[in-house]
Amino acid sequence: MPEIFINGHPVQAADNQSVLEAARAGGHYIPYFCWHPKLSVAGNCRICVVQVEGRSWVEIACNMPVTEGLRVFTDSDLVKAHRKMVMQFLTLNHPVDCGICDKAGECTLQDYHYAYNATPSISHEPKVRATKFHELSERIVLDNERCIVCSRCVRFTHEISKSCALGIKHRGDESLVRASEDGALDRDPYSDNVIDICPVGALLSRPFLYKARVWYLKPTPSVCPGCARGCAVQIWHRKPEWRLKALDPKQNVSIARVTPLENPAVNGPWICNKGRDLAQIFERPRAEQPMLKGKPVAPAAAVAAARRLIDAAKHPVAIVSSWGSNEELAAFGAALGGRFKTFVKQDWTPAPGERLEDDLLIRPDKNPNTAAARALFAPLPEPPVFDAETDLVLVWGEGCNFAHLPAKAKVIFVNSYLQPENGHADVFFAASIQTERRGHYTNFRGVVSAFEPCFPKGPEVVDAESLFAELGTAEGGRP
Ligand code: SF4
Ligand code: SF4
Ligand code: FES
Repeated sequence: MPEIFINGHPVQAADNQSVLEAARAGGHYIPYFCWHPKLSVAGNCRICVVQVEGRSWVEIACNMPVTEGLRVFTDSDLVKAHRKMVMQFLTLNHPVDCGICDKAGECTLQDYHYAYNATPSISHEPKVRATKFHELSERIVLDNERCIVCSRCVRFTHEISKSCALGIKHRGDESLVRASEDGALDRDPYSDNVIDICPVGALLSRPFLYKARVWYLKPTPSVCPGCARGCAVQIWHRKPEWRLKALDPKQNVSIARVTPLENPAVNGPWICNKGRDLAQIFERPRAEQPMLKGKPVAPAAAVAAARRLIDAAKHPVAIVSSWGSNEELAAFGAALGGRFKTFVKQDWTPAPGERLEDDLLIRPDKNPNTAAARALFAPLPEPPVFDAETDLVLVWGEGCNFAHLPAKAKVIFVNSYLQPENGHADVFFAASIQTERRGHYTNFRGVVSAFEPCFPKGPEVVDAESLFAELGTAEGGRP
């Protein structure tokens, strides 16, 4: 454990740490562009310079190993002058695009310009022009004028996603980030992480392009339900104080973008592209009313009808959701688990062409809470087989093939999205979705993660947790 001194303050460093890492761990800030905690050291941006005591030159901290008694300064006049030079150099050909750049508000170049430079360019030469809207993939557009050639994106595809989809061609001020071959980045299911790690606004999400200024948005912590990994994510949506009044009001309650929420126990700082596309899951047409045989009714009437069916049933079966939260599954078990013979289904199976699994994050089970559901209930056999005397089936969530249900059994269906089966059920309940309630999922390794609500649910939409508790008060409903 070498002890080093940063600006005269002792810092206990770990063996093999760089000065930059030791400084960060010890609460001392050294700026960086090209360094990233999960990537190899490139050492190309030179903003992280420090001065070692007794030396008349500066050196980069991201590639300087700690040694016992090392004394460095992060704010000497020489360091400040060098940082300013680096900023002058990096902004020499950088366009003044902040007013239209999606990265504005969370751009390291912008922040460092104010912190370490804050003076106009000294160059009188015209800026070097480069490609503005290069389509790097179906999902990502590249602005080469904004790129500072830090190579983070390239290293990500070589070291993390292992697609080797990106490289840098040409030299000097003609350097260009490019796909290694046509479609290479399209085939990388983790491609959008390069948008987050790009320290400037060079790599931009095409679905999010020019959609919102980030300071009008707010992130709600959540969990991706796309597979059993359960990656921690942030769901970004309009801040209530910046509600749009003139445009489509749905924009105030829709997902603007999804980004990773760093969780070392689950996903580190990454997520896959499916996690970015949660709007495609959550913003499908919703079921919003309870129904009896397709006829809309008040929620109380649906509850009364469901309770009558439960009371009358002699051999009820329940098929519960692997998308239900820990709380909902527990509520089902407590209220109805003793009354129903209960099985867990897979609500989602892999879509055609979807990556099944890999060594990074993606898991073959495309449901977020199979672990918690299976800890309580048996898996549904595939294809499902029902006893001949089954007279009531409660189906919760998607993925049930209704053709397999016993023809004469009554059906209670609890579902969130518009589906033809909703109207065929004897009793149908429209249930809230993950963005409308709080709860927890347990991932395939047993790690429990929380999600929070960000949008209100419809007036006739029910929370499954309270619905099950209500149905459990039916005669004989309790275990
Ligand atoms: S596109 Fe962004 S991440 Fe990639 S090299 Fe340029 S500045 Fe770095
Ligand atoms: S790896 Fe699974 S849980 Fe993580 S973002 Fe992708 S689909 Fe979602
Ligand atoms: S962060 Fe050290 S050279 Fe870029």
